[in-house]
Formats: sequence, structure tokens, C-alpha cells
Amino acid sequence: MSHRIARTALTVLALASIATLAQAQQGKLKVGLMLPYSGTYTALGVAIENGFKLAVEEKGGKLAGREIEYVKVDDESDPAKATDNVNKLIKRDNVDVIIGTVHSGVVMAMAKAAKESGTVLIVPNGGADAVTGPMCAPNIFRSSFSNWQPAYAMGEVAAKQGKKTAMTITWKYAAGDESVAGFKEGFEKGGGKVTKNLTVPFPNVEFQALLTEIAAAKPDVVYSFFAGGGAVKFVKDYAAAGLNKSIPLVGPGFLTDGTLEAQGESAQGMLTTLHYADGLNTPRDNAFRTAYAKTFKLQPDVYAVQGYDAAQMLAIGLNATKGDITKKAEFASAIEKAKIDSPRGAFTISKAHNPVQDVYLRKVEGNENKLVSVAVKGLTDPARGCKM
Ligand code: PHB
Repeated sequence: MSHRIARTALTVLALASIATLAQAQQGKLKVGLMLPYSGTYTALGVAIENGFKLAVEEKGGKLAGREIEYVKVDDESDPAKATDNVNKLIKRDNVDVIIGTVHSGVVMAMAKAAKESGTVLIVPNGGADAVTGPMCAPNIFRSSFSNWQPAYAMGEVAAKQGKKTAMTITWKYAAGDESVAGFKEGFEKGGGKVTKNLTVPFPNVEFQALLTEIAAAKPDVVYSFFAGGGAVKFVKDYAAAGLNKSIPLVGPGFLTDGTLEAQGESAQGMLTTLHYADGLNTPRDNAFRTAYAKTFKLQPDVYAVQGYDAAQMLAIGLNATKGDITKKAEFASAIEKAKIDSPRGAFTISKAHNPVQDVYLRKVEGNENKLVSVAVKGLTDPARGCKM
């Protein structure tokens, strides 16, 4: 063997071992799940985790060849603990990526920490407009919605129905405030008028005094943002006060998603808008629903879909970087270019990293939020204040 051939062979060997070493060094991908595992949003956190894990299992339990190690934190939907909680994941556990969370106030603290540290954050629910607005960043993505999106669509629908006056009622925090603002924008553009905004502190569920006020004012429609345990209680109280017979209660679909078994008769006939619905009846959604029900002995809801799609987005970014999430620009660019094959219907990601998606009008029938129509096609959040 000549020296030159020997040297070439050695170089090839060296390169091959470097490649193997790099893969070995990648090791497991540490995924931080920061979700509510206690409190009014517990079921939402569980559905997101289930959806995420289902997507990973469908990919053979690995993403871009890397096994997954989960680190879980219960954020308790408590903004006061959010910075400490997210820093545990970033600084103590050194996670590669964070998935979370549900509550807008907690999400904003997570986005701030992610922006500072550069850690990839995929938000599988929390709609805080700021996250894909003034706080937008190359390493922050959302698989869910902005609070503005389903709210604005409901405003348009209510105005088109000929409703002239609306009262709103919600929890006093970012999600409630922004949901009400989005509804107002759509409703008033269509000629309606929001006459009064009522609020209770999060996560309180004492609605009686406010229901009395609604009954006295008799608006054409009531728009409401509540979710999880709070949504169950509110919809039941609204019906128990007899208001559902005289003043239609509408809202973003969170008011009736994952809650219908508990709400029963009180929710029947309610109209809501959301980026998911029962009865889409597409092969993609049917396959997802069957797999989810089989794995978890539960029906999926919008939260399960958002968790599932967070994993799909992560997989897209990792596949483009051969599992190396530190290649931030390539990771982001792959997700920005992708058409995400979601059970809700395919969607793309806006420049601000928020889904551009159809918003459905749904009607409660039995235990289903049955698809009525597409309220707004390809709705893009205005991303006010995002410079990216
Ligand atoms: C939010 O805080 O952004 C939030 C919480 C629960 C939902 C939707 C939005 O169902």
C-alpha cells in the first residue's frame, strides 16, 4: 500500500469515527415539559403531554434518531413561580428544548427566559399575544393559537348573525383580556357594540353576582373566555341561572373543549370558534383520534392536538439539523418553510412563528363540538409589535 493510500484510508477512518462520536455525543434529547399538573388547567396539561408523546411514539420513540428524556415541572398555572420553574429546566436540568405551557401569564415568563438563554421553546397552548408579538424571537414557536385568533373569528360570526350588543365575562389576566379584545375587534368591525366587560380574578369561580348583572342588562349575546375546570363551572352556572334560554353564550372553543362530559345538558347548542372541531372527518384526523383513544382511553381535544403538533414541529426542526438543535438558524428555517400535517388540518407558521390556520365554527351536540363551517380561512395573527 502506498503512503498516500494509507493516509487517505486513515483520514476516512478518522472522519467516520468523528461522525460516530458526534452522534454518540448528541445522546438523548432532553425535553422539558412545563405544564399544569395541578389546578383548574390540569386536564389541559395532561392532554398536551399525551399528544406530544403520541407523536413521538408514532416516530418510533425517537426524533431525528435521538431518544427522548423527559423532565417534568408542574407550573401550577402560577405566574409568580414561572421564572423559577423555567430556570430549573434551563439552568439546573440543561434541557435541549422546552414545551410549555397553558397559562398566558406563565408563558410570558417562559418566553422571556427562553429569549435570554436561547433555549428553543415551543408553546403548545398559552395564547399570550405578546409571545408572537413584541416578545417574538427566532427560538420561540407556537403550535397552538394567539388569544386574538379564535376570539376575532367569534366576533365576526356574532356580528354576521345580526347581534348588536354584547357583554363579556372572563378571568382577569392576559388570556381573558386579549380574548375579549379580539372579540370586540371582530364584533365592532361588523357593526356590533360591546357594552360591558365583566371579570373575576383567576382562577376564581364565583359568578353569581355577575350573572345577575347580565340578566338585568339583557345583551343580545354574552362572550366568555374560561377553560378547564373553570369553564365547566361557568357554563353550568350560566344554565342554572336560566340565562342560556334567553341570551346565547358564545366564546372561543376552550369554553367547551374537553369539558362536555362534565357540562352535559348545560352546554347543548352552544356555538364556539376554534382551530379544531369534532367531526372534521378527514383521514388525518380520524387516524389521530383512533390512535389517541386507543393509547389513552380518552377522546382527544384541542389541547391534545396542540401537544401532538408541538412534537411534529420539533421533529421537523431536528430532522433538518440531523438532531442538532444548537443549529438554531437551520432549525427555525425548516419549521418556517414547513406545512405541518396537523389533525386540525394542515397549517403553516407565520413570520412571528404562530400558526396560520382555519378557525372553525362549532356547535355542541351531545359530547361533541360538531363542525358547522369554516368561520375564517387561513387566519393570521396580526403579530403587532413583532420585529423579526
Ligand atoms: C391562556 O392562558 O392563554 C389559555 C389558557 C387556557 C386555554 C386557552 C388559553 O384554554
